Amino acid sequence: MPETARKILITSALPYANGSIHLGHLLEHIQTDIWSRFQTTRGNECYAVCADDAHGTPVMLKAQELGITPEEMVQKTQAEHQADLATFDVHYHNYHNTHSQENRELCSGIYESLKANGYISQRTISQLFDPEKQMFLPDRFVKGTCPKCDAPDQNGDNCDVCGATYIPTELKNPQSVISGATPVLKDSEHYFFDLPQFEDSLQAWLNGGNVQPEIANKLQEWFEQGLQQWDISRDAPYFGFEIPGAPNKFFYVWVDAPVGYLASFKNYCDKHNIDFDSYWKADSDAEVYHFIGKDITYFHCLFWPAVLEGAGYRKPTGVNVHGFVTVNGAKMSKSKGTFIKAQTYAEHLEPDYLRYYFASKLSDGVTDIDLNFEDFVQKVNSDLVGKVVNIASRCAGFISKKFEGTLRLPETLPPVLTEMQTASESIATAFESRQYSRAIREIMTLADKANQYIDNEAPWVTIKDPEKQAYTQEVCSVGINAFRILMTYLAPVLPTLLEKSEQFLNDSLTWNSAQTLLNNHQINKFKALLQRVEMDKVNAMIDASKEDLKAAQASAKPVSGPLADDPISDEITFDDFAKVDLRIAKIVKAEHVEKADKLLKLQLDIGGETRQVFAGIKSAYQPEDLEGKLTVMVANLAPRKMRFGMSEGMVLAAGPGGKDLWILEPHEGAQPGMRVK
Ligand code: MSP
Ligand code: ZN
Repeated sequence: MPETARKILITSALPYANGSIHLGHLLEHIQTDIWSRFQTTRGNECYAVCADDAHGTPVMLKAQELGITPEEMVQKTQAEHQADLATFDVHYHNYHNTHSQENRELCSGIYESLKANGYISQRTISQLFDPEKQMFLPDRFVKGTCPKCDAPDQNGDNCDVCGATYIPTELKNPQSVISGATPVLKDSEHYFFDLPQFEDSLQAWLNGGNVQPEIANKLQEWFEQGLQQWDISRDAPYFGFEIPGAPNKFFYVWVDAPVGYLASFKNYCDKHNIDFDSYWKADSDAEVYHFIGKDITYFHCLFWPAVLEGAGYRKPTGVNVHGFVTVNGAKMSKSKGTFIKAQTYAEHLEPDYLRYYFASKLSDGVTDIDLNFEDFVQKVNSDLVGKVVNIASRCAGFISKKFEGTLRLPETLPPVLTEMQTASESIATAFESRQYSRAIREIMTLADKANQYIDNEAPWVTIKDPEKQAYTQEVCSVGINAFRILMTYLAPVLPTLLEKSEQFLNDSLTWNSAQTLLNNHQINKFKALLQRVEMDKVNAMIDASKEDLKAAQASAKPVSGPLADDPISDEITFDDFAKVDLRIAKIVKAEHVEKADKLLKLQLDIGGETRQVFAGIKSAYQPEDLEGKLTVMVANLAPRKMRFGMSEGMVLAAGPGGKDLWILEPHEGAQPGMRVK
């Protein structure tokens, strides 16, 4: 136990508010949560905060696609994220979102300080602009032909075929991914943060033990290329915070996202009377750690410390970078069913299994972590069920049946118990330095020794000898104490198993509990603490993840422009297809929908019955051109409430999207209401 409690604030990267928590996110939240629980059980004052990352173009567009406001989407997603994290026993003292009042105020304050300190400048730049959507296009929203090798359909910043990197304006035949329109170049004034002024202090910070050595090395590449001014503004329309004194200019999402760490903590401090400044002022003696994935290193290890310093705050004590989760040796894949959402996992398997497995693989490095399901099943069953829980189940029955649930230790303790107690500091050092896999190995070695002790003493044999009753009670009491010490060390990793164990032991455990023993103590009746994992359950989870993919594809828009190059979805049977009632429909009325960029409101005649349908075909047609035309509609699609009203079906149109969408011309024989099969 440290002599004086440390003051620690830790964070996980803020998940974007436009998607579900998946196993990749969980690696990070579990890594953070283990560290947070470890610090708390050691007696330190430790707060962990997180939030949803609400801003930016993808969130804005996703909300538009769903026909809801970004605020509504953020609220809904945040609730889902919090529920998912709670399921995995990931505990944050506060979970906020970046579209909050605290964040708005902190961002303004930081910006004003940066400006006052001479770190902000303005200049006009020229960027690709979508004339139809009336918005500037971020790099990933432009596609086109590679300027180097002529490969079609390449991203705005790099070519998958020849590997060239370029700027989006160099693309041939560029296309907006959002509308399909050809982007034009447009000038706009942008705001820049003067990163190069921080070169020396960043170097000192990076080489001062605040990041892993491989990260410090990797970042040297950026210094070699020369640090650049950082563009921190985006033009409307943008879901974010308007820059003070700059109407229609918004902070780029990566400006306000890390400030969201402060905002979430501030929100908590205000409610709990905690001194926020003592954690964040320049000479703070508190420790601040960010846990992040390797893909966002650049933002956290260059811009973020520089912004903090420039605005007069302290810099992080540590940025702890982890690698990516792969499943069965490959990148998580939707079609293989290995892109697994937190919810889907939890419907099939115990959260503690995953926490244990990740802990057994995590180190303080940035290598990727492979979740191999055979290894997962094997490790959980052999370590947790076969070694740890087994010790309790082997000894508990005798104690409750024969000795009224009372533990009684021998006068001279067997060496195994003292050895287990002595391991405390070495295991603590492993947790402290985020070498969880080492901690787990040490704990399992102790579990092996405890099992060995019980095997040697064989209480199931001595129990039969009337002369050896007291002896048997002592052996089993040693066993239960051994289990208790193991659970003390595993507590940060396995909160659910801990809770059940505490109930069984009739005791509550913190790190130092390992240094005391339970003697002349009453335990409760043993109930199964953990089930074995079955491979069947894993397979069911993978199948369900494939189902998730199908559901997502089914609810996708019928025509989605150049984004429609998704793989063909899984086969449906003829019976599935036969259920779709396709009818010829006459468009009797077509009108614009206010505030909707893609939708037209159609009244369709399907032979005596009129249906209202919202269709995403505005990019291709003027409403007046549609009236009188025929189209095919899905007539038995369940009505759906959209932001603009009910949609009672779906119209089918063919084509690559954007301007090229084909609808039927009226022609002989087709009559409204006719079935199309
Ligand atoms: N919103 C930003 C972070 C802002 S922090 C001020 C973001 N969000 S994210 O949802 O894309 O990712 C959140 C975290 O999850 C990141 O640390 C990211 O590295 C991590 N991971 C996302 N997919 C992952 C894996 N497959 N494996 C491990 N971590 C992964 O980035
Ligand atoms: Zn190329």
